[in-house]
Amino acid sequence: MILDGKKYLYFAGTSYFQLHTHPKVLEAAEDATHKFGIGSATTRAMTGTTPLLKKVEDKLASYFNTEDAAYLPSGWLSSLAGMKALDEMGLYDKIFLDEGSHYSLVDGAMATGRPVIRFQNRNLKNLEKLMAKHLGPNERPLVATDGLFPVIASLAPIGEYLDLALKHGGVVWVDDAHGVGILGLHGRGSCEALGTRSDKIFLGATLSKAFGSYGGIVLGSNSFIQQVRSGGVLTGSSSPMNAAVAASIKGIELVQENPGFRIKLWENARFLKESLGKLGIISESRHLPEMHGIIPVVSFSFGDAENMKSIQNHLLEEGIYIQYTDYKGAGPGGMLRMVVTSSHKKVEIVRLSTALKEALGRFRP
Ligand SMILES: Cc1ncc(COP(=O)(O)O)c(C=O)c1O
Repeated sequence: MILDGKKYLYFAGTSYFQLHTHPKVLEAAEDATHKFGIGSATTRAMTGTTPLLKKVEDKLASYFNTEDAAYLPSGWLSSLAGMKALDEMGLYDKIFLDEGSHYSLVDGAMATGRPVIRFQNRNLKNLEKLMAKHLGPNERPLVATDGLFPVIASLAPIGEYLDLALKHGGVVWVDDAHGVGILGLHGRGSCEALGTRSDKIFLGATLSKAFGSYGGIVLGSNSFIQQVRSGGVLTGSSSPMNAAVAASIKGIELVQENPGFRIKLWENARFLKESLGKLGIISESRHLPEMHGIIPVVSFSFGDAENMKSIQNHLLEEGIYIQYTDYKGAGPGGMLRMVVTSSHKKVEIVRLSTALKEALGRFRP
């Protein structure tokens, strides 16, 4: 990464396989732009459902092994489109939202017009208690959550959320923006990594992270996806840019054809966690069983915001970029967050842990 003209070793972002600069992804985007133009210049409900869009949706359904899939202009819109569709299908009455969830779930939930009850991040007892308090007779919940919380680097207990939702005849919405591509044997995300599969779990995500491209996705049965397609988000917005769609197709193909990307990512994630574990930095997340994936993120708090910014600055002086963030989920004091990708070399991870060791010694809270 280059910042103010200086080059840094980059341990941030979400391009877990660095596909956003892969030559084949760039070439696909460029070719599609020259061949088809910027976009269709009309909405999908008019004449904007192009062959390219059909192709990306077929690819997604095949990759995720679902009946169907919808491609949306952004991942941010996935939760809005998905939760609205579930409401229109009459599948729930009230939304129980994990309060650690991404901004897009908060706004998506509010946009349904249904009552939204927030429960403490990953706290099953709290969820159970709030369900008992807020659900009237015959009322059904929608439990909404991120799959992988990207700042604290932890998975949602999706199976347990499902059990509680089913107890009251409800369903679960998972935004797995950070899990898809990188977790699970086939890279299908957090549910696959946890071994949780059910037709009562409905999924959305983005292609702007592991797949190196752009656009939101919603996955599931034919009837659910038809409902998403007939909803306001897809009928009312212009079809996404051809460059994004073509890059998405190529990104999915590359991830599908190269399971080695995940193996390398997990190897790097394990090495980072072991190296930082020796410094006493243990992310909240536990290692998932072998073959199911390792979360490639380590985050921790160390004193107050000023102290953490001093650590970040120390690393910058060493030519290493890690993030200090107060993004959703980081808590009031913020966190230091490091991300490894499948492209990092072991020596680079050693450079990071060596610099961090020095910084932690220097800036003890
Ligand atoms: C959990 C989560 N959901 C949704 C989004 C939004 O996706 P997009 O950037 O494709 O709009 C993000 C961030 O990009 C995210 O982290």
